[in-house]
Amino acid sequence: MDYVNQRVSIVVLAAGLGTRMKSRKAKVLHRVGGQSLLAHVLDAATGVTTPDRIVVVVGHQADAVRNECESYGVRFQLQAEQKGTGHAVQVCGGEECLTDGLLIVLYGDCPLLSRQTLERLLMQHRGSGAAATLITTFLDDPSGYGRVVRDPSGDVSSIVEQKAATPEQLAIREINSGIYCFEAPLLWEHIGTITPNSASGELYLTDIVELFRNAGHRVQPLVLEDPTEVLGINHRIELADADRVLRSRKARELMLNGVTIERPETVSIDMKVQVGMDSVIGPYAQLLGSTTMGENCTVGAGAILRNVTIEDNVEVHPYTVIDDCHLEAGAAIGPFARMRMGARLEAGAHVGNFVELKKTRLGAGSKAMHLAYLGDSDIGSKVNIGAGTITCNYDGRSKHKTQIGDGAFVGSNSTLVAPIQVGKGSYIGAGSVVTDTVPEDALALGRGRQVNKEGWAAKRRRQQPGG
Ligand code: UD1
Ligand code: CA
Repeated sequence: MDYVNQRVSIVVLAAGLGTRMKSRKAKVLHRVGGQSLLAHVLDAATGVTTPDRIVVVVGHQADAVRNECESYGVRFQLQAEQKGTGHAVQVCGGEECLTDGLLIVLYGDCPLLSRQTLERLLMQHRGSGAAATLITTFLDDPSGYGRVVRDPSGDVSSIVEQKAATPEQLAIREINSGIYCFEAPLLWEHIGTITPNSASGELYLTDIVELFRNAGHRVQPLVLEDPTEVLGINHRIELADADRVLRSRKARELMLNGVTIERPETVSIDMKVQVGMDSVIGPYAQLLGSTTMGENCTVGAGAILRNVTIEDNVEVHPYTVIDDCHLEAGAAIGPFARMRMGARLEAGAHVGNFVELKKTRLGAGSKAMHLAYLGDSDIGSKVNIGAGTITCNYDGRSKHKTQIGDGAFVGSNSTLVAPIQVGKGSYIGAGSVVTDTVPEDALALGRGRQVNKEGWAAKRRRQQPGG
């Protein structure tokens, strides 16, 4: 259903510090499932309306919070002093996009909410005749949440915050999720009449329920069967709980799309990651950021990939760590390999254990199988990089490039002092220190010549018996 044409607008409250987090960082900037709490909420919000109809209320660390939302193109209102959730909505009073239609209020600390649930909220509200619909759920342990008090007809008569609740009200297991759908004109008509809470002095948005009732309007609940969706994050234990829920959701989504995940409870896969069919992900692997992977790939146990693009049929062996790189089809790397800063493995290139590639292209079919550092290098196709090869790319001041032509053979334990060019089809003898250009098809030797002294060891033994 196209809600955009039905004038839905959204206010996201994100001005609080989140004292219970015990953090210098604003609560909504803390991360779960690889992105901030706020980004999760905005992902759900932008699923039901356009960014120009979404207003984020900022206060604590307003600039950092604004930056976090930048890419969404949403609007902002400043709540300079945080005088409660009711006050936070009041400061949006001047926003024209919020004046008519339906207005959803979301709290920025509720990252598990899905777009589908917001759609359900709108669906249930429309045509109900209620002034507001609020999402509730039943919790075994409702502590910390506002309790939902119902009237005999099943409508909501009030929301009582934990601190103000009577013992009977504390026993209520139905809680306020903090997700509401309002008839916008009615909200604006009554929001100004919320009075400060006698205990905290704050203006509670939840008080609007009684104000509506007194004015003769209905408030209806939408009860969610699955309470995980409305888990609000107030401290670090809830942060870890939400992270686990998000990661398990993501793993399940991938498995249903044809990805094998061994021991799915151990992997960490960020929300935006994509993995193709028949790929296999080993235990404790982490796929982070904008990582995308083609079909029929394997990622071994404990491998960590951040912002990596992987084409089809690639093997990443265990305990390999890759950041911001590209692996073309049929490439293989690891175990225990490191790739970073835009390095690229071209089709079928193989990298083995204890090899590091930084800002380096390893051409199609080339190999660097053991113990090497390849930095700032452009390496052609079908090149063999011997064990222990080191590019000396840094002279203490600047970085320099190494170029190795197609089909070259770099012997083991070679030291390539950049800037340096190694011609196509050339050979470098093992153990060479190479400081000058190697021409195409040449053999370069840059090492001390071996000297054999016949009989030397036997003579030494005769001179020093037992030595
Ligand atoms: C709130 C609800 C409670 C509900 C719970 C659900 C109120 C009074 N209580 O309690 O009924 O069960 O959420 O998670 O609304 N914020 C502002 N400006 C402010 C105060 C808060 O922007 O002046 C923002 C916070 O940044 C946060 C959100 O509003 O993202 C909720 O505030 P929080 O203090 O966490 O409310 P709770 O005590 O959890
Ligand atoms: Ca909260």
